[in-house]
Amino acid sequence: MTAHIIVLAGDGVGPEVSREAVRVLQAIGTKFHHTFTFEDHLIGGCAIDATGSALPEATIAAAGKADAVLLGAVGGPKWDDPKAKTRPEDGLLAIRKALKLYANLRPVKVYPELAYASPLKPEILAGTDFIVVRELTGGLYFGQPKERRKRADGGTTAVDTLEYHDYEVERILRLAFELAGGKARRGIVASVDKANVLETSRLWREHAAVLGKHYPSVTLQHVLVDTAAMRLVMSPSQFDVLVTENTFGDILTDEAAVLAGSMGLLPSASIGEVKNSKGFALGLYEPIHGSAPDIAGKGIANPVGTILSAAMLLRHSLGLEEEAQSIETAVETALRQGARTADLTKSNPLSTAQMTDAILTLI
Ligand code: IPM
Ligand code: MN
Repeated sequence: MTAHIIVLAGDGVGPEVSREAVRVLQAIGTKFHHTFTFEDHLIGGCAIDATGSALPEATIAAAGKADAVLLGAVGGPKWDDPKAKTRPEDGLLAIRKALKLYANLRPVKVYPELAYASPLKPEILAGTDFIVVRELTGGLYFGQPKERRKRADGGTTAVDTLEYHDYEVERILRLAFELAGGKARRGIVASVDKANVLETSRLWREHAAVLGKHYPSVTLQHVLVDTAAMRLVMSPSQFDVLVTENTFGDILTDEAAVLAGSMGLLPSASIGEVKNSKGFALGLYEPIHGSAPDIAGKGIANPVGTILSAAMLLRHSLGLEEEAQSIETAVETALRQGARTADLTKSNPLSTAQMTDAILTLI
Protein backbone atom coordinates (compact mmCIF):
# COMPACT_ATOMS: atom_id res chain seq x y z
CA MET A 1 0.00 0.00 0.00
CA THR A 2 1.02 3.58 -0.62
CA ALA A 3 -0.28 6.11 1.89
CA HIS A 4 0.26 9.80 2.39
CA ILE A 5 0.55 11.07 5.95
CA ILE A 6 0.59 14.69 7.10
CA VAL A 7 2.79 15.28 10.14
CA LEU A 8 1.86 18.19 12.38
CA ALA A 9 4.70 18.17 14.89
CA GLY A 10 3.46 21.30 16.67
CA ASP A 11 5.00 22.68 19.85
CA GLY A 12 6.91 21.58 22.94
CA VAL A 13 7.75 17.90 22.87
CA GLY A 14 5.56 17.49 19.76
CA PRO A 15 8.46 17.46 17.27
CA GLU A 16 10.49 15.06 19.43
CA VAL A 17 7.78 12.45 19.78
CA SER A 18 6.28 12.69 16.30
CA ARG A 19 9.75 12.16 14.79
CA GLU A 20 9.93 8.83 16.62
CA ALA A 21 6.49 7.72 15.47
CA VAL A 22 7.53 8.45 11.89
CA ARG A 23 10.58 6.20 12.37
CA VAL A 24 8.32 3.42 13.57
CA LEU A 25 5.95 3.86 10.63
CA GLN A 26 8.91 3.72 8.25
CA ALA A 27 10.04 0.47 9.85
CA ILE A 28 6.54 -0.95 9.44
CA GLY A 29 6.59 0.16 5.81
CA THR A 30 9.83 -1.72 5.23
CA LYS A 31 8.70 -4.85 7.03
CA PHE A 32 5.26 -5.10 5.44
CA HIS A 33 6.17 -3.61 2.04
CA HIS A 34 4.20 -0.39 2.21
CA THR A 35 5.30 3.04 1.08
CA PHE A 36 4.36 5.78 3.49
CA THR A 37 5.11 9.34 2.45
CA PHE A 38 5.27 12.13 5.02
CA GLU A 39 4.67 15.84 4.63
CA ASP A 40 5.22 18.37 7.44
CA HIS A 41 2.83 21.22 8.16
CA LEU A 42 2.25 23.79 10.86
CA ILE A 43 -0.28 23.87 13.67
CA GLY A 44 -0.48 25.57 17.08
CA GLY A 45 2.01 28.05 18.50
CA CYS A 46 4.66 27.55 15.82
CA ALA A 47 1.96 28.22 13.21
CA ILE A 48 0.92 31.42 15.01
CA ASP A 49 4.55 32.58 15.01
CA ALA A 50 5.03 31.80 11.33
CA THR A 51 1.67 32.82 9.87
CA GLY A 52 -0.45 34.49 12.53
CA SER A 53 -2.93 31.61 12.45
CA ALA A 54 -2.99 28.51 14.67
CA LEU A 55 -4.26 26.53 11.70
CA PRO A 56 -3.00 27.92 8.39
CA GLU A 57 -4.99 27.28 5.22
CA ALA A 58 -2.12 25.24 3.79
CA THR A 59 -2.41 22.82 6.70
CA ILE A 60 -6.15 22.36 6.27
CA ALA A 61 -5.76 21.84 2.52
CA ALA A 62 -2.97 19.27 2.92
CA ALA A 63 -4.71 17.41 5.74
CA GLY A 64 -7.97 17.24 3.82
CA LYS A 65 -6.22 15.47 0.93
CA ALA A 66 -4.14 13.10 3.05
CA ASP A 67 -4.87 9.54 4.15
CA ALA A 68 -4.18 10.41 7.80
CA VAL A 69 -2.71 13.09 10.03
CA LEU A 70 -0.18 12.48 12.79
CA LEU A 71 0.03 15.22 15.41
CA GLY A 72 2.57 15.85 18.18
CA ALA A 73 1.22 18.50 20.53
CA VAL A 74 0.25 22.16 20.62
CA GLY A 75 0.66 24.95 23.14
CA GLY A 76 3.17 26.35 25.60
CA PRO A 77 3.79 29.26 27.97
CA LYS A 78 4.93 31.49 25.11
CA TRP A 79 1.38 31.66 23.78
CA ASP A 80 -0.46 31.53 27.09
CA ASP A 81 -1.53 35.16 27.29
CA PRO A 82 -5.25 34.94 28.12
CA LYS A 83 -5.81 38.18 26.18
CA ALA A 84 -4.26 36.81 22.98
CA LYS A 85 -6.60 36.71 19.97
CA THR A 86 -5.44 33.29 18.84
CA ARG A 87 -4.21 30.47 20.98
CA PRO A 88 -2.45 27.26 19.90
CA GLU A 89 -5.39 25.19 21.18
CA ASP A 90 -7.63 26.98 18.65
CA GLY A 91 -5.67 25.16 15.95
CA LEU A 92 -6.61 21.82 17.43
CA LEU A 93 -10.28 22.69 17.80
CA ALA A 94 -10.32 24.12 14.27
CA ILE A 95 -8.75 21.08 12.61
CA ARG A 96 -11.24 18.79 14.35
CA LYS A 97 -14.03 20.92 12.96
CA ALA A 98 -12.46 21.32 9.50
CA LEU A 99 -11.89 17.58 9.06
CA LYS A 100 -15.26 16.75 10.73
CA LEU A 101 -13.53 14.58 13.33
CA TYR A 102 -16.49 13.97 15.59
CA ALA A 103 -15.19 10.95 17.46
CA ASN A 104 -12.20 10.85 19.75
CA LEU A 105 -11.06 7.37 20.76
CA ARG A 106 -8.84 7.09 23.80
CA PRO A 107 -7.93 3.56 24.82
CA VAL A 108 -6.68 3.10 28.37
CA LYS A 109 -4.85 -0.09 29.09
CA VAL A 110 -2.91 -0.75 32.26
CA TYR A 111 0.24 -2.78 31.77
CA PRO A 112 0.67 -4.80 34.99
CA GLU A 113 4.41 -4.12 35.02
CA LEU A 114 3.75 -0.38 35.10
CA ALA A 115 1.10 -0.43 37.85
CA TYR A 116 3.75 0.86 40.28
CA ALA A 117 3.81 4.15 38.39
CA SER A 118 0.13 4.83 39.01
CA PRO A 119 -1.05 6.41 42.25
CA LEU A 120 -3.78 3.75 42.44
CA LYS A 121 -3.29 0.35 44.08
CA PRO A 122 -2.33 -2.48 41.69
CA GLU A 123 -5.34 -4.56 42.81
CA ILE A 124 -7.68 -1.77 41.73
CA LEU A 125 -5.91 -1.44 38.37
CA ALA A 126 -5.83 -5.16 37.59
CA GLY A 127 -7.62 -5.95 34.34
CA THR A 128 -8.19 -2.33 33.36
CA ASP A 129 -8.66 -2.15 29.61
CA PHE A 130 -11.27 0.22 28.23
CA ILE A 131 -11.76 2.81 25.53
CA VAL A 132 -13.31 6.22 25.94
CA VAL A 133 -15.30 7.45 22.97
CA ARG A 134 -15.54 11.20 23.32
CA GLU A 135 -17.79 13.36 21.14
CA LEU A 136 -15.45 15.94 19.68
CA THR A 137 -17.14 18.59 17.57
CA GLY A 138 -20.22 19.55 19.55
CA GLY A 139 -21.23 20.72 22.99
CA LEU A 140 -19.79 23.53 25.05
CA TYR A 141 -16.55 23.92 23.12
CA PHE A 142 -18.33 24.91 19.93
CA GLY A 143 -21.85 26.08 20.88
CA GLN A 144 -22.86 29.63 19.96
CA PRO A 145 -23.20 32.19 21.43
CA LYS A 146 -19.83 32.06 23.18
CA GLU A 147 -19.10 35.57 24.36
CA ARG A 148 -18.74 38.19 27.05
CA ARG A 149 -21.44 40.71 27.75
CA LYS A 150 -21.18 44.01 29.56
CA ARG A 151 -24.02 44.43 31.99
CA ALA A 152 -25.82 47.69 32.77
CA ASP A 153 -24.35 47.58 36.29
CA GLY A 154 -20.86 47.70 34.73
CA GLY A 155 -20.06 44.02 35.44
CA THR A 156 -19.31 41.28 32.95
CA THR A 157 -21.21 38.12 32.11
CA ALA A 158 -19.61 35.26 30.17
CA VAL A 159 -21.67 32.79 28.17
CA ASP A 160 -20.89 29.39 26.66
CA THR A 161 -23.60 27.36 24.99
CA LEU A 162 -24.17 23.65 25.48
CA GLU A 163 -25.99 22.45 22.40
CA TYR A 164 -26.32 18.98 20.89
CA HIS A 165 -28.20 17.96 17.77
CA ASP A 166 -29.86 14.55 17.58
CA TYR A 167 -27.68 13.49 14.62
CA GLU A 168 -24.49 14.34 16.54
CA VAL A 169 -25.60 12.26 19.50
CA GLU A 170 -26.76 9.44 17.28
CA ARG A 171 -23.54 9.02 15.26
CA ILE A 172 -21.21 8.98 18.25
CA LEU A 173 -23.37 6.53 20.18
CA ARG A 174 -23.60 4.30 17.12
CA LEU A 175 -19.82 4.24 16.85
CA ALA A 176 -19.57 3.24 20.51
CA PHE A 177 -22.05 0.38 20.08
CA GLU A 178 -20.24 -0.81 16.95
CA LEU A 179 -16.94 -0.81 18.81
CA ALA A 180 -18.39 -2.60 21.83
CA GLY A 181 -19.87 -5.27 19.60
CA GLY A 182 -16.54 -5.88 17.83
CA LYS A 183 -14.30 -8.76 18.75
CA ALA A 184 -11.67 -6.52 20.34
CA ARG A 185 -14.09 -5.52 23.14
CA ARG A 186 -16.27 -7.13 25.81
CA GLY A 187 -19.68 -5.85 24.71
CA ILE A 188 -20.45 -3.27 27.41
CA VAL A 189 -21.30 0.36 26.70
CA ALA A 190 -21.34 2.84 29.57
CA SER A 191 -23.15 5.90 28.27
CA VAL A 192 -22.10 8.79 30.48
CA ASP A 193 -24.37 11.82 30.92
CA LYS A 194 -25.86 14.20 33.44
CA ALA A 195 -29.47 13.40 32.62
CA ASN A 196 -30.67 14.34 36.10
CA VAL A 197 -29.85 17.99 35.30
CA LEU A 198 -29.08 18.69 31.64
CA GLU A 199 -31.50 18.68 28.70
CA THR A 200 -28.71 17.73 26.28
CA SER A 201 -28.04 14.71 28.48
CA ARG A 202 -31.68 13.69 28.43
CA LEU A 203 -31.59 13.77 24.63
CA TRP A 204 -28.39 11.75 24.80
CA ARG A 205 -29.89 9.15 27.12
CA GLU A 206 -33.03 8.74 24.98
CA HIS A 207 -30.94 8.05 21.90
CA ALA A 208 -28.68 5.67 23.76
CA ALA A 209 -31.69 3.67 24.97
CA VAL A 210 -33.27 3.45 21.50
CA LEU A 211 -30.01 2.57 19.81
CA GLY A 212 -29.21 0.00 22.48
CA LYS A 213 -32.22 -2.04 21.36
CA HIS A 214 -30.58 -2.46 17.95
CA TYR A 215 -27.50 -3.99 19.57
CA PRO A 216 -28.92 -6.87 21.62
CA SER A 217 -25.49 -8.40 22.15
CA VAL A 218 -24.24 -5.20 23.81
CA THR A 219 -25.07 -4.37 27.42
CA LEU A 220 -25.95 -0.71 27.86
CA GLN A 221 -25.45 1.10 31.16
CA HIS A 222 -26.38 4.72 31.78
CA VAL A 223 -23.92 6.29 34.20
CA LEU A 224 -24.08 9.83 35.55
CA VAL A 225 -20.85 11.67 34.94
CA ASP A 226 -20.07 12.30 38.60
CA THR A 227 -20.56 8.62 39.33
CA ALA A 228 -18.40 7.73 36.33
CA ALA A 229 -15.60 9.94 37.66
CA MET A 230 -15.75 8.05 40.94
CA ARG A 231 -15.93 4.59 39.38
CA LEU A 232 -12.95 5.32 37.17
CA VAL A 233 -10.71 5.37 40.22
CA MET A 234 -12.67 2.89 42.38
CA SER A 235 -13.22 0.07 39.90
CA PRO A 236 -11.83 1.00 36.47
CA SER A 237 -11.78 -2.59 35.22
CA GLN A 238 -15.61 -2.59 35.02
CA PHE A 239 -15.48 -0.30 31.97
CA ASP A 240 -15.25 -1.56 28.41
CA VAL A 241 -16.52 1.21 26.12
CA LEU A 242 -17.33 4.51 27.77
CA VAL A 243 -19.09 7.01 25.52
CA THR A 244 -19.75 10.62 26.40
CA GLU A 245 -20.10 14.20 25.21
CA ASN A 246 -17.24 16.60 24.57
CA THR A 247 -16.60 18.27 27.93
CA PHE A 248 -17.25 15.21 30.07
CA GLY A 249 -14.96 13.23 27.78
CA ASP A 250 -12.21 15.81 28.02
CA ILE A 251 -12.25 15.65 31.80
CA LEU A 252 -12.73 11.91 32.19
CA THR A 253 -9.96 11.05 29.76
CA ASP A 254 -7.41 13.02 31.76
CA GLU A 255 -8.60 11.26 34.88
CA ALA A 256 -8.41 7.92 33.11
CA ALA A 257 -4.88 8.68 31.93
CA VAL A 258 -3.67 8.52 35.52
CA LEU A 259 -4.56 4.85 35.66
CA ALA A 260 -1.94 3.88 33.11
CA GLY A 261 0.87 5.34 35.20
CA SER A 262 1.94 8.07 32.81
CA MET A 263 0.19 10.40 30.39
CA GLY A 264 3.11 9.69 28.08
CA LEU A 265 1.84 6.20 27.32
CA LEU A 266 -1.58 6.95 25.93
CA PRO A 267 -2.60 7.37 22.29
CA SER A 268 -5.70 8.82 20.73
CA ALA A 269 -7.50 8.80 17.42
CA SER A 270 -9.94 11.35 16.12
CA ILE A 271 -12.05 10.13 13.25
CA GLY A 272 -15.10 11.28 11.37
CA GLU A 273 -17.23 10.92 8.30
CA VAL A 274 -14.68 11.94 5.67
CA LYS A 275 -13.19 8.99 3.80
CA ASN A 276 -9.60 8.92 2.57
CA SER A 277 -8.24 7.46 -0.67
CA LYS A 278 -8.32 3.97 0.89
CA GLY A 279 -12.02 4.17 1.73
CA PHE A 280 -11.26 4.37 5.45
CA ALA A 281 -11.91 7.26 7.84
CA LEU A 282 -9.59 10.21 7.48
CA GLY A 283 -8.27 10.56 11.00
CA LEU A 284 -5.98 12.58 13.22
CA TYR A 285 -3.74 10.70 15.61
CA GLU A 286 -2.03 12.22 18.62
CA PRO A 287 -0.72 11.32 22.05
CA ILE A 288 -2.91 12.66 24.82
CA HIS A 289 -0.06 14.18 26.83
CA GLY A 290 0.16 17.68 25.38
CA SER A 291 3.24 19.79 24.75
CA ALA A 292 4.95 19.29 28.15
CA PRO A 293 6.98 22.53 27.94
CA ASP A 294 8.91 21.67 31.14
CA ILE A 295 10.76 18.83 29.39
CA ALA A 296 10.63 20.05 25.78
CA GLY A 297 13.90 20.00 23.86
CA LYS A 298 15.62 17.64 26.30
CA GLY A 299 15.03 14.47 24.33
CA ILE A 300 13.52 12.70 27.32
CA ALA A 301 9.80 12.67 26.50
CA ASN A 302 8.10 9.30 26.33
CA PRO A 303 7.38 8.53 22.64
CA VAL A 304 5.05 5.60 23.41
CA GLY A 305 1.81 7.61 23.30
CA THR A 306 2.67 8.87 19.82
CA ILE A 307 3.95 5.50 18.64
CA LEU A 308 0.72 3.86 19.78
CA SER A 309 -1.16 6.66 18.02
CA ALA A 310 0.65 5.62 14.85
CA ALA A 311 -0.65 2.09 15.45
CA MET A 312 -4.18 3.48 15.69
CA LEU A 313 -3.53 5.35 12.44
CA LEU A 314 -2.67 2.10 10.68
CA ARG A 315 -5.78 0.42 12.10
CA HIS A 316 -8.43 3.10 11.62
CA SER A 317 -7.26 5.07 8.58
CA LEU A 318 -5.43 2.41 6.57
CA GLY A 319 -7.12 -0.82 7.63
CA LEU A 320 -3.73 -2.36 8.48
CA GLU A 321 -4.66 -4.37 11.57
CA GLU A 322 -1.70 -6.75 11.54
CA GLU A 323 0.72 -3.86 11.22
CA ALA A 324 -1.03 -1.99 14.05
CA GLN A 325 -0.78 -5.01 16.30
CA SER A 326 2.85 -5.46 15.44
CA ILE A 327 3.53 -1.99 16.90
CA GLU A 328 1.36 -2.63 19.96
CA THR A 329 3.03 -5.95 20.68
CA ALA A 330 6.48 -4.40 20.28
CA VAL A 331 5.59 -1.63 22.75
CA GLU A 332 4.18 -4.11 25.24
CA THR A 333 7.23 -6.34 24.97
CA ALA A 334 9.67 -3.44 25.30
CA LEU A 335 7.88 -2.32 28.46
CA ARG A 336 7.84 -5.86 29.82
CA GLN A 337 11.57 -6.09 29.15
CA GLY A 338 12.07 -2.98 31.26
CA ALA A 339 12.41 -0.18 28.71
CA ARG A 340 11.55 3.01 30.61
CA THR A 341 11.70 6.72 29.89
CA ALA A 342 12.11 9.32 32.64
CA ASP A 343 8.38 9.54 33.36
CA LEU A 344 8.48 5.89 34.43
CA THR A 345 11.80 5.48 36.21
CA LYS A 346 14.46 7.43 38.05
CA SER A 347 17.26 4.96 37.44
CA ASN A 348 18.98 5.25 34.07
CA PRO A 349 15.95 6.24 32.01
CA LEU A 350 16.09 5.84 28.25
CA SER A 351 15.98 8.91 26.06
CA THR A 352 13.12 9.44 23.61
CA ALA A 353 15.20 8.00 20.76
CA GLN A 354 16.51 5.06 22.82
CA MET A 355 12.98 4.10 23.84
CA THR A 356 12.02 4.06 20.17
CA ASP A 357 15.12 1.98 19.37
CA ALA A 358 14.02 -0.55 21.99
CA ILE A 359 10.64 -0.78 20.29
CA LEU A 360 12.13 -0.89 16.78
CA THR A 361 14.28 -3.91 17.58
CA LEU A 362 11.04 -5.81 18.27
CA ILE A 363 9.33 -4.90 14.99
C1 IPM B 1 -7.59 17.47 24.56
C2 IPM B 1 -7.15 18.87 24.90
C3 IPM B 1 -7.95 19.81 24.03
C4 IPM B 1 -9.41 19.57 24.31
C5 IPM B 1 -7.62 21.29 24.18
C6 IPM B 1 -6.15 21.55 24.01
C7 IPM B 1 -8.44 22.14 23.28
O1 IPM B 1 -7.33 19.14 26.25
O2 IPM B 1 -7.35 17.03 23.44
O3 IPM B 1 -8.16 16.82 25.42
O4 IPM B 1 -9.92 20.03 25.32
O5 IPM B 1 -10.05 18.89 23.53
MN1 MN C 1 -8.08 17.49 27.37
